[in-house]
Amino acid sequence: MKGIILSGGHGTRLLPLTKVTSKQLLPVYNKPMIFYPLETLLKAGIKDILIIVAPEHSDDYLKLLGSGKQFGAKFTYEIQDKPEGLAQAFMIGENFIGKNNVCMVLGDNIFEDDFSKTIKNFKSGGQVFAKKVKDPERFGVVKFNNKMEAVRIEEKPKKYLSDYAITGLYVYDHRVCEAAKQARPSARGELEITELHNWYLKRGELKVDIVKGAWFDAGTFESLFSASEMIRKKI
Ligand code: DAU
Repeated sequence: MKGIILSGGHGTRLLPLTKVTSKQLLPVYNKPMIFYPLETLLKAGIKDILIIVAPEHSDDYLKLLGSGKQFGAKFTYEIQDKPEGLAQAFMIGENFIGKNNVCMVLGDNIFEDDFSKTIKNFKSGGQVFAKKVKDPERFGVVKFNNKMEAVRIEEKPKKYLSDYAITGLYVYDHRVCEAAKQARPSARGELEITELHNWYLKRGELKVDIVKGAWFDAGTFESLFSASEMIRKKI
């Protein structure tokens, strides 16, 4: 299993905090934000990790994370020239992934859970993780049937679909690179990760588990603050 941390984008929702630095390098209590998704991968035994960053901050990431040796891992870096969508990570990372399975985590997603069992048992298809939230319209949303099987997934649905947000941790087999190439830009001009979930869902190969512990998409002032608060209470 290879790992990807997607850590590009402009972080415009956090301006002026992100005027001179990358959102995923901002502090969450006592560590840079990216340390948390990195720990999620390391805990699951993933050691070969591609870090995708925006061009203007690549030197800061290299300074902070280096070769990966100090984490007992190996880091590779790629630049995403423009934030054209989450699914683009699998085009940028195609050679890195090769014929391996891959687990991608978003650089601003902080999880309390340990996913190592699920990730280590993953064989093929797609595996994503959902969490009940109060503001589903901010996220990719999944609707379940009464057997808790996913039946529909939509990115930021305008009409209520369900309370279950798809979190920023994704496990796929190498076919995800093919699926990414078939994706077309959405109305907001991005290659949406939701299209990739649907690629697997259509084939009956998508599993959706529920996240039990806390989860933060630390991309807003409110969630950034709450994430820091949770970490402070835990340590
Ligand atoms: O946090 C989970 C949500 O993440 C999912 O529920 C959604 O399905 C998914 O589309 C995504 O939604 P967001 O609106 O939170 O995506 P955002 O544009 O904020 O990007 C998420 C992270 O990925 C953020 O840290 C910036 C980074 N990013 C984003 C884009 C579009 C990149 O590195 N490159 C990109 O091209």
